[in-house]
Amino acid sequence: MHEVVKDYYGKQLKSTDDLKTSACCDTSNVADWLKPHLRKIHPDVLSRYYGCGLVCPQQLEGCRILDLGCGTGRDIYLLAQLVGPTGSVVGVDMTSEQLDIAKKHQAFHSEAFGFDNVTLLQGYIEKLDELGLEPASFDIIISNCVVNLSPDKNAVLEGVYGLLKEGGEFYFSDVYVNRRIPKSLQNDPILYGECLAGALYWNDFLTLSKQAGFQDPRLVEDRPLAITDPALVNRLERLRFFSATYRLFKLGQLETDCEDYGQAVIYKGSIRECPTYFNLDKHHRIETGRIFPVCGNTWRMLQHTRFSKHFEFIGNFDHHYGIFEGCGSTLPFNDEQKNTAMTMRDSPCC
Ligand SMILES: C[S@@+](CC[C@H](N)C(=O)[O-])C[C@H]1O[C@@H](n2cnc3c(N)ncnc32)[C@H](O)[C@@H]1O
Repeated sequence: MHEVVKDYYGKQLKSTDDLKTSACCDTSNVADWLKPHLRKIHPDVLSRYYGCGLVCPQQLEGCRILDLGCGTGRDIYLLAQLVGPTGSVVGVDMTSEQLDIAKKHQAFHSEAFGFDNVTLLQGYIEKLDELGLEPASFDIIISNCVVNLSPDKNAVLEGVYGLLKEGGEFYFSDVYVNRRIPKSLQNDPILYGECLAGALYWNDFLTLSKQAGFQDPRLVEDRPLAITDPALVNRLERLRFFSATYRLFKLGQLETDCEDYGQAVIYKGSIRECPTYFNLDKHHRIETGRIFPVCGNTWRMLQHTRFSKHFEFIGNFDHHYGIFEGCGSTLPFNDEQKNTAMTMRDSPCC
């Protein structure tokens, strides 16, 4: 499959307009504060953007970032500005035609930004250990519409885990599907190149992530993908595709489920680009100044990461109150006491 993908991105596609589906073409709105940074990126790079989401987490200044499957480098040159001169961005891609365009415009970007903090490497994302990168040296690893193209997703996730610092995160957008792709479609070159045939069934992705050490994958945002080409619609039948952005924290103490220790956090509003609220994920929008109850895992994702100084932390891990209600899992047993309590609470008072 590597050769099929190299041919597709190296020879067949010349710009975003050549794509046959909307899978590798992000239409999401870019936040206003990012627009001036995008305007500094060379048009040749922008016109060959094949990403499916915005891979731009909060609080990037000074971070060391790795981009898996960087293509011609749109995300690299965007993030290079956000990490600033004290940070750095490394891009990896296996397709020379893509990487050559990123390299051709490296000097243009360093002149526009006033510093050069980008390194571009040719290689495979399944073999990150062959690139000479120091283990546990990255704050953030990103990827935009690439993992679905990998024939060995396990190896990618394991490599990512090894390169992240403790407290670092894999923040990436990709394509997922509502059921496993049938064998008859798995090797179709167009469907594969368009980021569909290699897409993971979402629940298999969660299992693989946990096996690689990421115990609590958090969904940040998602959108359904529209497959409009009638020939493709017929072939794909009941498969439904989604673009989704996940964040996977490397934190050794995370538990497999959200457990309740009676804790809470208060966001100080001190991250420049998020003055009114902090979005940890799709289910955690934490308003500035407000006491926000959290499970133990969320607590750790905020306290043992680069976000720590932006929060106040209430409570500790001394007492456990069971599963954190509303986070996906519930008590599996028929709880008479709780039922009685709820009945009493729900009865009209008279
Ligand atoms: C859909 S494009 C996305 C490019 C870029 N992230 C962007 O947003 O424009 C996929 C890119 O991943 C690269 N790629 C795919 N599989 C790869 C692999 N196994 N190892 C390294 N690069 C890979 C391709 O060469 C291509 O540049």
